Amino acid sequence: MAVTASQTLPQITINTLREMKTRGEKFACLTAYDASLAQVVDTAGVEVILVGDSLGMVVQGHNSTLPVTMDDMVYHSACVSRGCHQSLLMTDMPFMSYTTVEQALHNAARLMQEGGAHMVKLEGGAVQVEVVRQLVARGIPVCAHLGLQPQSVHKLGGYRVQGRETHVAQKMQEDAYALQAAGADMLLLECVPATLAEEITKTMDIPVIGIGAGPACDAQVLVLYDMLDITHGKRPKFSRNFMQGNASLQGAIEAYVRAVKSGSFPAAEHTFN
Ligand code: KIV
Repeated sequence: MAVTASQTLPQITINTLREMKTRGEKFACLTAYDASLAQVVDTAGVEVILVGDSLGMVVQGHNSTLPVTMDDMVYHSACVSRGCHQSLLMTDMPFMSYTTVEQALHNAARLMQEGGAHMVKLEGGAVQVEVVRQLVARGIPVCAHLGLQPQSVHKLGGYRVQGRETHVAQKMQEDAYALQAAGADMLLLECVPATLAEEITKTMDIPVIGIGAGPACDAQVLVLYDMLDITHGKRPKFSRNFMQGNASLQGAIEAYVRAVKSGSFPAAEHTFN
């Protein structure tokens, strides 16, 4: 497929997403890792494309995101940016690439300058507040990632729902507010009970994207390969096979966008209590 620039549609920005939250209009996010699929996702009307470090699992075949390097993220982000014309391009900062403010600034700059990212995403709560403050102060939009943080899988003891215990739920809420106060432009909640995600979404000014976090979030994200049913092994509970009933990739992705916007995805069976 030829990847050509088509700049006729307006670029989605963090302001677009904030306005959508204010209007109560949901938006869609999907991962992509290469230019051709990014172009399909972009053309299907997905507002945010995430170059997730999930590429370590679905593209590279590792059993976690931990082996993914900065060079990997820069490479895939640059590929995606060549197929992304309208969507906002958000790229993950990989494991241990933001342990100090200096390191985070250097690596976020690489993702934007070499990788074409419009925004970076990083995992962690209170411990990341200063990093977020400094990135934002230098003009780098940040999405914070709470709940299940795959880069901490070994500390968490597996890929598990987070926030079922009262003290964990309370800490997650405090972290969310602290990250927003530090200037984070967006929050992503992964594998969080739906009621907790709803409480956080309703009380935050910035848009909240959910994955396995119930229907009340301002937006939904899925790993592209999961929703196209090409994931190795069992599909996660929070995902859905959008290829079912759709004859093409484009059709499946458009169905996902419609389902997110209408609120029909995620349904109860994709949600944790
Ligand atoms: O890396 C990724 O794809 C992600 C999503 C699971 C949200 O962070």
